[in-house]
Amino acid sequence: MRYLPIFILLFLSSSCKSDDQLTHAKPLTLHDTLISNGGSFALGFFSPTSSNTSLYLGIWYNNIPGPRTVVWVAHRDNPITNTSSPMLAITNSSDLVLSDSQGGTPWAVKNTITSAGATAVLLEEGNLVLQSPNGTITWQSFDHPTDTVLPNPRFLLSYKAHVGMRLVAWKGPDDPSSGDFSCSVDPSSPDLQFFTWNKTEPYCRLSVWNGKSVAGGTYLTNTSSILQVEVSKLE
Ligand SMILES: *[C@@H]1O[C@H](CO)[C@@H](O)[C@H](O)[C@H]1NC(C)=O
Ligand SMILES: *[C@@H]1O[C@H](CO)[C@@H](O)[C@H](O)[C@H]1NC(C)=O
Ligand SMILES: *[C@@H]1O[C@H](CO)[C@@H](O)[C@H](O)[C@H]1NC(C)=O
Ligand SMILES: *[C@@H]1O[C@H](CO)[C@@H](O)[C@H](O)[C@H]1NC(C)=O
Ligand SMILES: *[C@@H]1O[C@H](CO)[C@@H](O)[C@H](O)[C@H]1NC(C)=O
Ligand SMILES: *[C@@H]1O[C@H](CO)[C@@H](O)[C@H](O)[C@H]1NC(C)=O
Repeated sequence: MRYLPIFILLFLSSSCKSDDQLTHAKPLTLHDTLISNGGSFALGFFSPTSSNTSLYLGIWYNNIPGPRTVVWVAHRDNPITNTSSPMLAITNSSDLVLSDSQGGTPWAVKNTITSAGATAVLLEEGNLVLQSPNGTITWQSFDHPTDTVLPNPRFLLSYKAHVGMRLVAWKGPDDPSSGDFSCSVDPSSPDLQFFTWNKTEPYCRLSVWNGKSVAGGTYLTNTSSILQVEVSKLE
């Protein structure tokens, strides 16, 4: 009887173990994942179904059963082809570097701060951030979307008359590499217009600036949830 409380404490402490962080001392290897602290998202290595010859670092929903829904891919056009021992690590100079077993670097984030002690954290909203010990974020995956926008305080469509962020479709259901279709503002138009593109050809104009906002809509995703999308101009 007197051992029971000890068992409960052990169980609690192991279930509270944080693995949403990557540190210099603890790199991420092939079968490891980072799980955001509320359990919604996972970051790790994956092979698209039916192909085990290419490996990608990505973020997917952690608790949706069935096929994995990938929301972000780090190096979609530069897969790891030798799948034996990839590693995501934080270097001495606080860069975030993906390496393969043959010493190649398919993807890396150069940190703007070179002091040691940076960590990479997978946040509960699905954002991977690289941060200094004092919490300053120096890079985030939300600034580099793949084909998915997650609820996100700021997704810049255009910035100083240049195309800001662009969503680019996967080439196919099993191929995360950049496909022909993308979605962004029209860089050649003086007005803010939002298009899907087939390569460089406009495919469909989704919306145009009306003086207040470019687009918006409330979608009933199913009977119990509502998705609200708003595209507006920042002052
Ligand atoms: C891919 O890997 C899984 C498990 O690692 C294995 O069951 C499957 O047969 C492999 N598929 C191919 C096409 O090699
Ligand atoms: C990183 O730092 C550790 C100790 O601080 C040192 O032993 C190691 O050689 C360094 N690695 C590189 C690649 O500079
Ligand atoms: C993958 O890398 C390992 C370690 O460098 C090497 O032993 C192996 O032969 C490589 N496999 C292929 C298919 O290149
Ligand atoms: C956090 O630390 C970095 C250096 O690592 C420094 O450049 C930055 O100013 C610091 N930010 C704050 C808010 O202290
Ligand atoms: C996209 O453009 C290519 C020509 O570049 C055309 O062959 C293809 O049919 C277009 N796709 C769609 C869905 O319209
Ligand atoms: C609607 O979404 C909720 C929460 O994701 C889910 O539990 C429910 O089964 C869904 N309803 C339908 C009709 O798909």
